[in-house]
Amino acid sequence: MRAVDIIIKKRDRGELSREEIDFFVQGFTRGEIPDYQVSAWAMAVLLNGMTARETTDLTLSMAHSGQVLDLSGIVEVAVDKHSTGGVGDKTTLAVLPIVAACGLPCGKMSGRGLGFSGGTLDKLESIPGYRVDLTTEEFKTQLKEIGIVLTGQSLDLAPADGKLYALRDVTGTVQSMPLIASSIMSKKLAAGATAIVLDVKTGLGAFMQSLEEARQLAALMTSIGELAGRKVKTLLSDMNQPLGFAVGNVLEVQEAIDALHGKGPEDFREHCLEASAHMLALGGRAANLESGRRMAEGAVKNGSAFEMFRKLVAAQGGDVSYVDQPGKMAKARLVEPVPSPESGCLSQIHARIIGEAAVELGAGRAKKGDTVDHAVGFMILRKVGEKVQSGEPLFVVHANDVGRLAAAKKAVLAAHQSSAAPVPPLPLFYEH
Ligand code: URA
Repeated sequence: MRAVDIIIKKRDRGELSREEIDFFVQGFTRGEIPDYQVSAWAMAVLLNGMTARETTDLTLSMAHSGQVLDLSGIVEVAVDKHSTGGVGDKTTLAVLPIVAACGLPCGKMSGRGLGFSGGTLDKLESIPGYRVDLTTEEFKTQLKEIGIVLTGQSLDLAPADGKLYALRDVTGTVQSMPLIASSIMSKKLAAGATAIVLDVKTGLGAFMQSLEEARQLAALMTSIGELAGRKVKTLLSDMNQPLGFAVGNVLEVQEAIDALHGKGPEDFREHCLEASAHMLALGGRAANLESGRRMAEGAVKNGSAFEMFRKLVAAQGGDVSYVDQPGKMAKARLVEPVPSPESGCLSQIHARIIGEAAVELGAGRAKKGDTVDHAVGFMILRKVGEKVQSGEPLFVVHANDVGRLAAAKKAVLAAHQSSAAPVPPLPLFYEH
C-alpha cells in the first residue's frame, strides 16, 4: 500500500477499507507517513466525509495506535467527560473536582486549543509548575491515590490522535465530523473510560453550527462508544455566545476557581452543575440526575470541590498558592474596558469571532508549536437577551500589544449585535 493512493482514493470520494485506514494511521504514528501527506488526507476527509463504518474503523485504529488502558483494578467505574470544543469552555476545570469530591474518581486526558476553541491543557499551564505530561503509570497511581487526574494525552495513549490533532489545528481541518468523532472517542477508549459524558456544542462558536449537525455528531460518537461496550450520555449545549465571561487561559482558570467557590457567572456555574450531575448519575454514584445535582451543589457549598482542585494541582506539581490567590497568575500589561456604542437588547455575541480574536491576541496558536500567551483574552460581560445602555461596559480586553489590542477591540465590538426589540435569552442546553 502507498499513502498517496489512499489520499487519492479519499480525494475521489472513495470509501477506505479497514486495512487502508489502519495502514495510514499506524504509518503516521510511526513517523513513516509525513505531515504533508497526512494534512492532504485530512483535507480530503474534511471535504468528502467518511461513512459511519470508516469513522468507527478510524477511531479503533487511533485508539489502538498506542496502549489501551484498563482501569478495572483501579476504579469501579471509569467515568470521563469530553466537550467537542467551544469558546470560554472551561467546564472540565470545575466539573472534574466537583465529581471527584462527590466520591466518583475521575481521570481525564485533555487537549490543547484547537482552531478558535480553547484547550484545557493550555489553561492548566497558567498555573506555574502544573505538569500535563503524566506517564500512564503516574496517571493510574494518582487516580487510585487521590481520585482525580487531569493531564495531557500521554505519548503512549492514542498517539495517532495527538499527532493528527496538532496538524488539524493548523491546516483548516478541524471542522470535520468524522475527524472530531474519532479524535474524541479514540482518546476515551484508549484512556479506559467505561462511562462517558459527551458535551456536544452547537452554535456559532462550535464546530457543529446547527442543532441537526450536533445531533448527528452525538449519534455517531454514541454508536462508536456503544459498539466498544461503553456507556455514553450526550448533552447538546449552546455555543452561540461564550460560556461564562472569561475567554483566555488565565482568565478562564480564575473563573473556574470562582465557580468552585460558588461564585462567578451564573450560566457557567449552572452548566458545570448540570454536567456534574450527569456524570454522577452515569457513573452510578447518584441514583438519578436530581440527586446528582444535589450532590454537586453540596460539594461546591461545603468547599470539598475546591479542596479537590487544590489536591489535583498539588499532585501534578502546580504551585497551590496560585489556586489560593488566583490574582497572582500572569497579568496582561494592557487591560481596557470597552463600552457599548449603543443602547438596546443584545441579540448576538458571536462566540466564534471572539474565539478567533482571542487566538489573534495570542491565547491560541496560528501554527504548530507556537507558544501561547496565557495572560491575554477577554471578559465578555453581558449575555444575549440583556439590555445595555450606550456607554455601559460590554467587555474588557486583556492584551500585551497595542496593535493587537486595537484589532481585538474592533473584532469583539463587531461580534456584539443589539436590537431595539426584546430578545429571549439563549438556552444552556438543548437536549440530552
Ligand atoms: N476535541 C477533541 O478532542 N478533538 C476534536 O477534534 C475536537 C474537540
